[in-house]
Amino acid sequence: MQALTRRGLLVGIGAAGGAGAMYAAMGALGLAPSEQDKAYTPPQKSDFHLTGKGAAKVVILGAGVAGLIAAYELGKAGYDCTLLEASDRAGGRNRTLRGGDRLAEMNGPTQEVRFGDGVYFNAGPGRIAQWMVTLDYCRELGVPIEPFINNNAQAYVNTHGQTVRARAARADMYGYIAELLAKATNAGRLDRRLTRDDRERLLEFLRRFGDLGPKLDYEGSTRRGFMKYPTTDGGTPVAPPGTLQQVLAAGTGRAITNDFGYDQATPMFQPVGGMDAIVTRLKQAVGEDRIRTGVKVNKITNLPDGVQVTWDGGEFKADYCIATLPPHVLARVPHNLGAAVTSALRTPVPVAAGKIGLEYGRRWWELEDRIYGGITETDLDITHIWYPSYGFHSERGLIVGYYTSEKEAELYGALTPEDRRRRALTQGRKIHGDKYGRDLQSSVSIAWDRQEHIQGGWVRWPAFDSSFTLLQRPSGRVYLAGDWLTHLIAWQAGAMESARSAVTQLHQRVLQSA
Ligand code: PHE
Repeated sequence: MQALTRRGLLVGIGAAGGAGAMYAAMGALGLAPSEQDKAYTPPQKSDFHLTGKGAAKVVILGAGVAGLIAAYELGKAGYDCTLLEASDRAGGRNRTLRGGDRLAEMNGPTQEVRFGDGVYFNAGPGRIAQWMVTLDYCRELGVPIEPFINNNAQAYVNTHGQTVRARAARADMYGYIAELLAKATNAGRLDRRLTRDDRERLLEFLRRFGDLGPKLDYEGSTRRGFMKYPTTDGGTPVAPPGTLQQVLAAGTGRAITNDFGYDQATPMFQPVGGMDAIVTRLKQAVGEDRIRTGVKVNKITNLPDGVQVTWDGGEFKADYCIATLPPHVLARVPHNLGAAVTSALRTPVPVAAGKIGLEYGRRWWELEDRIYGGITETDLDITHIWYPSYGFHSERGLIVGYYTSEKEAELYGALTPEDRRRRALTQGRKIHGDKYGRDLQSSVSIAWDRQEHIQGGWVRWPAFDSSFTLLQRPSGRVYLAGDWLTHLIAWQAGAMESARSAVTQLHQRVLQSA
């Protein structure tokens, strides 16, 4: 008998189980991206052809990304959707600020945005990973994208009061780790785990990983960069690395592993011209007339044959409801969904998050620091400085002077906008020097926990427990959606996947209902 080849196996599986089974098997063999094969099928008008049923009327609470995607997907099958939005704009946390905008804050002053033409600040989401469904919507909606630079060797790492280029921080940590491991290996300390061949292979890798010398010492590396880069002469290297102890004590760990995760790996992407291009196109696709702003629902009632929502001065009845408010906000809206729902809604903990946009009249980070996009990581309370991935070499530019969450976000959020700016500038000067305070044109800061109808950057579930799964299913005729109902919290992709899940469940039910 002929040996079973992979191809033969796949042909067999394809014949027996169809293309889907074959593709799944290819995934198992590492030949296809199996994580992508859980296909989503949008509801379509033709789904109703043989059923004698029609699309239902749906009221969607909240016109953020989850609400807009739900309306957009249901709209494909002709559902009659109405979005009720408490604030005066659609988009939720997807918010891009430009000159002329006003940013209100609970118990705080309203900030006027004074940026010049072409300058924008993504106050909410700012980066998209390649595998995220967000990019599929950009493609489908015709939102052009460009790279978002999430990792730049030329940016800085600032920890314990010391600033080095990211490339130097990495070279030193990798170098010393490689040296330690190589020497332990060579001294036979790992012989219980390694064969002679393993040892050779590991050493071969570690020499490359750490740029080790002939005696397996890390003695610095051109990877660390130069004061003056090699040109007609050999250049001037930066000062040599500290000792192993000094490098460990610098604590650069978080900073140099920031993009190791599957959700932060480079390259990432952003819509050209601002993240809110996604909202703009969704609004157009859904129909602006379906979005009613300034409607703050104060009661949700499941009825035997529909759902009734009321607000101060109005009410609306529909066959189904999709509520996309943050759980801690929804928990305060009276409803008859039951005590288990109320208590489940109170389980996720809101997390504060904030950002400041600093607009400069001069792109000093490009001109003087030669930093084109990317992020400086720091253990200062500003946590990160983002350099813009757009508008290179133009006159003005905007950097994100802090992007904080949890304690640091609460700290900045409690300050006035002027004090936030002052503090952000004081911190930034520690990294960039006095130029950080010069040529500043304007600034705007957002504290998401102080945005009236949102009241948090995102949430944290103490555990993805039965409360989480309970809320992923409808309560009567009320479905819930939002990033907080997925494992993609604090990503638009989470809001989108959750909306798809609610839409799929709702549509199945409508098709099957008597
Ligand atoms: N999506 C947000 C960001 O990229 C928040 C986040 C950070 C979520 C890290 C998960 C991991 O900044």
